[in-house]
Amino acid sequence: MTDTEHAAPRTAVAFREVYGAEPTGVWAAPGRVNLIGEHTDYNDGFVLPLALPHTTLAAAAPRTDGVLRLHSGGADGGVVDLRIDELRPAPPQAGWAAYPAGVVWAMREAGLPVGGADLHYESTVPTGAGLSSSAALEVATALALDDLFALGLERQRLARIAQRAENAFVGVPCGIMDQTAAACCTEGHALFLDTRELTHRQVPFDLPGEGLRLLVVDTRVKHALGDGAYAERRAGCERAARALGVRALRDVAPAQLPDALARLAGAPDVADVQPLVRHVVTENHRVAEVIACLDAGRPRAIGPLLTAGHASLRDDFAVSCPELDLVVEAATAAGALGARMTGGGFGGSAVVLVEEADAVAVGAAVTEAFAAAGYTAPRLFEAVPSAGAHRIR
Ligand code: GLA
Repeated sequence: MTDTEHAAPRTAVAFREVYGAEPTGVWAAPGRVNLIGEHTDYNDGFVLPLALPHTTLAAAAPRTDGVLRLHSGGADGGVVDLRIDELRPAPPQAGWAAYPAGVVWAMREAGLPVGGADLHYESTVPTGAGLSSSAALEVATALALDDLFALGLERQRLARIAQRAENAFVGVPCGIMDQTAAACCTEGHALFLDTRELTHRQVPFDLPGEGLRLLVVDTRVKHALGDGAYAERRAGCERAARALGVRALRDVAPAQLPDALARLAGAPDVADVQPLVRHVVTENHRVAEVIACLDAGRPRAIGPLLTAGHASLRDDFAVSCPELDLVVEAATAAGALGARMTGGGFGGSAVVLVEEADAVAVGAAVTEAFAAAGYTAPRLFEAVPSAGAHRIR
């Protein structure tokens, strides 16, 4: 039994305690780490996330009176009571409840016949750690509502609804990666997603079978996507694409990069975005290279590509922080095959690829390096490529 299956009865019991009735079912959606392809999803590019064993569970039952009641075992403040026909974007002080409320809003906006519901949540996805706890919350909600109201939506559609909830209702300008990972990942695989075509392929990533481990290091530096730096990078990329006359930076091939950079350098109003372009173009290429290694059965060969991706995010895209840099430095010095920050950056988590035999020593080296630097002790755990959203009972 997985941790998620263990947590399902608890979530149902808590639902009964809060609402005094049985839930119709319990649904789960996972957090994620991204193996490679960072800040490429809003450039129509490529990403390669995998689902974590950590999930958000939603116990839910439909209502017929248009009321939406939301309760979380992990949040103070009791039941949030809303009317679905009164939901409006950017609700003031809505906190965590804005994410599930946004999903209901986005479904109604799309003309889907979704009604009120009672929902209770439990989650093991760390929050503020760059592991997509918000996407897990949105997608668990979307899947629960899809079942409760027999909407029959495809996984990709659920992901797009969840993203719209986050973009237009909560007001975070994220791309489509996290929601797609939560909705579409499968056990033992990384998900190769083309964020323009919205097509994906499951890439086998059997870490234990290969004698490898993927460690997640949560730096405990809280990241927040809404703080402006993410939106700024996104706007910079869009400005660059306009200046280069392409639909998105995805359309700049690696061979065209020197020419693209030279053109930007010659225009004073966009000269500053050159490093952003260099990151996105090389990062899309690194995704292709990582996939080629995995398809060829050479998972160890992805290590240097991960570390190169980190350098690009640190030096060109400027979204790392000293703690993330220290993880990469300490882990690679201690013998890791490769390491990089994962997710939006500015804090959050890093991933470290190690030989199984080196995992303990590399983890210890990172923890020691944090202590020596006077940083808060990081939280380490193993990422096992896990299932995407599913109904548990
Ligand atoms: C956050 C966003 C994603 C993606 C990553 C960076 O996780 O939610 O859409 O842009 O940052 O790759």
